[in-house]
Amino acid sequence: MGFKQKLQKILKERLTVEEIKLLPRGFQTLDKIMIIKLHPKLLNKKEIIAETCLEQLPYIKSVYLNQGKIKGQFREPENIRFLAGIEDPNVEHKEHGIIYRFNIEKIMFSKGNLFERKYLVSLVKKGETIVDMFAGIGYFSLSIGKHSQVSTIYSIELNPVSYEYLVQNIKINHLEEKIIPIHGNCKEEVMKLSKSGIQADRVIMGVFPAPKDYIKEALSLTKATGTYIHYEGVVDKDNDLVLYNEFLKIAEDIEYKIRLDSKRLIKSYGPGLYHIVYDIFVKKRINN
Ligand SMILES: C[S@@+](CC[C@H](N)C(=O)[O-])C[C@H]1O[C@@H](n2cnc3c(N)ncnc32)[C@H](O)[C@@H]1O
Repeated sequence: MGFKQKLQKILKERLTVEEIKLLPRGFQTLDKIMIIKLHPKLLNKKEIIAETCLEQLPYIKSVYLNQGKIKGQFREPENIRFLAGIEDPNVEHKEHGIIYRFNIEKIMFSKGNLFERKYLVSLVKKGETIVDMFAGIGYFSLSIGKHSQVSTIYSIELNPVSYEYLVQNIKINHLEEKIIPIHGNCKEEVMKLSKSGIQADRVIMGVFPAPKDYIKEALSLTKATGTYIHYEGVVDKDNDLVLYNEFLKIAEDIEYKIRLDSKRLIKSYGPGLYHIVYDIFVKKRINN
């Protein structure tokens, strides 16, 4: 029996027929916390629903309600609220052999990006230098640091709260030798790296909206033999090259030759919209 059917069975005496139909089909778990989304018509029954969820799943210690989106430059959860159990939003979420420590009320964690966190690792070759321009709490950096033979990852993060977790996560996953955390705006921090002679085999540009204003900085890290840039954004499925074409225009205007190696739709982002990643190979024209 599915989660929704179970809830429906237990709550049929306490909810109306309409409310029963609107119960959620699933939930997100982070460590021992369950995060649910509820239809607005169920909000006045949120405590009963949360208590029932707790009773059904003994490994869950708290239930939180997610009523918002991911907002702003820091990509923070807009509205996550405690509902039942033990009130403690701090988690140590385990995924793919990595511990991600963070506060679920302040930091986003998309389970929909799990495939991408694993996939990027598979592309990394021994001895690579990587710059993770929008590192967050280490979503990609930790996974690559742990499961590849990368040499060095420069992980740049602007939000002081995320940066603090990034530093802690590097430590608790024992990746101090591979990951160098940098607190600051990648627009300036990348230029400091490139001016100091750092060139990258791979640059990760994982943020929404597509970080078009940071393309020139990313290109400044290009190696003579070429560099891979993983560029993210949200596109209409029927027009999925639009962001790549923007990238191409900027790169060509400043003398870079680029090639689209592949692209992936990661997850749905609303009706007709998809989170996309482009794997772009770039090389300075002058070197060819
Ligand atoms: C959370 S991850 C992105 C996950 C997902 N792709 C999304 O945007 O919903 C992006 C991180 O980039 C950070 N960030 C945003 N602008 C930045 C900048 N200019 N320099 C460095 N980090 C930045 C945010 O604080 C955030 O932690």
